[in-house]
Amino acid sequence: MNFTRADFPEDFLFGVATSAYQIEGQSFGGAGPCHWDSFAATPGNVVRAENGARACDHYHRWEEDLDLVAGAHLDVYRFSTNWSRVMPEGRGTPNAEGLDFYDRLVDGLLARGIKPAATLYHWELPQPLADMGGWRNADMPNWFADFTEVVMRRIGDRVWSAAPINEPWCVSWLSHFLGHHAPGLRDIRATARAMHLLLVSHGRSIQAMRALGMKNLGCVFNMEYSEPADASDAARKAAHLYDGYYNRFFLSGVFRGEYPEEVLEGLGPHLPTGWQDDFDTIRAPLDWCGINYYTRKLMAPDAGPWPAHKEVEGPLPKTAMGWEIYPEGLEFFLRRTHEEYTSGLPIYVTENGLAAPDVVTDGVVEDPHRIAYLDSHLGAVRRAIAAGVPVAGYIAWSLMDNFEWSYGYEKRFGLVHVDFDSLKRTPKASYHALSAALSR
Ligand code: FCB
Repeated sequence: MNFTRADFPEDFLFGVATSAYQIEGQSFGGAGPCHWDSFAATPGNVVRAENGARACDHYHRWEEDLDLVAGAHLDVYRFSTNWSRVMPEGRGTPNAEGLDFYDRLVDGLLARGIKPAATLYHWELPQPLADMGGWRNADMPNWFADFTEVVMRRIGDRVWSAAPINEPWCVSWLSHFLGHHAPGLRDIRATARAMHLLLVSHGRSIQAMRALGMKNLGCVFNMEYSEPADASDAARKAAHLYDGYYNRFFLSGVFRGEYPEEVLEGLGPHLPTGWQDDFDTIRAPLDWCGINYYTRKLMAPDAGPWPAHKEVEGPLPKTAMGWEIYPEGLEFFLRRTHEEYTSGLPIYVTENGLAAPDVVTDGVVEDPHRIAYLDSHLGAVRRAIAAGVPVAGYIAWSLMDNFEWSYGYEKRFGLVHVDFDSLKRTPKASYHALSAALSR
């Protein structure tokens, strides 16, 4: 790596992230079924119809995994609490084993000198709530606030930071409009309702945590840089709209109490009645903003109904996901978020990383592309800091290879390789490089 801690502000934090369904093993510890189980059981949704039943068996191997976090000299571990593990019915009686697991995990982090950064929802919607319409149901904010309280009454006194929902764009648009993630809908009305009700749920969750006296609360939004495919006005408009419903809708709701005009043009008629009155809740004050960043898209106009645009393949080098590598986009988002939305709040990169077809050869995993990717994106972070953006930390995705949603176990994002037969963990060259850079 081309940096040491000395290249960053003194209290700048480094970390790695994971999420519950992707690593824990849904079949262990009394977790209830979640909508990812049924989505994965439907032919055509997930590569080789794989699911999270066993995943990395982190449920049993968490101590070994936390040792790996500590071994890389990292400051923060970002993990998520599985709703269907804590409350198998989604509501009502909690599963004691589930709460005990997160209690042990948090204590295990603190014992290793690592800051626990909790995300309440990283996509394991309990099946009983999915059966009632999931994020389309206007009762979701109440149920999510109850879930928040159950989890945080147990671990809220010891977590370093907390955020309600990982990537509302993925939970709504990717899952209800494009149908690529559970529940696999392709329905504009479901999408609009989910986008709004997710933000109301976010606000209610923040209020519930404040009521418990918790501090250091934020949000985690994924952002994709949107560029016109050519110099035409129509392409510029297409890119602006993509940026609108992907990036600005959520930022604008939470930090300004409004939605972008061009997004309302398409979604307005489908929002829940009285949506305009929800912004006091949605705007619940935050202490930081998290950005998950991976890539950019080139956008062009297309025939058909709103949003009437399409992606065009770009010319830049791509990762194994087919995503173009574009660190400049991260610098852009760090600056824009600070200048136009969060004005002064600390900003964290809460996810960033790449997939590569990594293999173990004689006990070693060479992943030079990952090292270069992390280096170039940390370069973007340094440029943003030099320009005055209060970037306070960088959290890489991911600690280890895991269940990459609709790509199953095929796409490897880890700093640590996982053999999905033996479940053996092998730190990759990128892990060793990061560890060396941070220990100096
Ligand atoms: C993000 C998700 C994370 C992982 C990475 C590659 O959108 O938050 O779970 O799938 O992408």
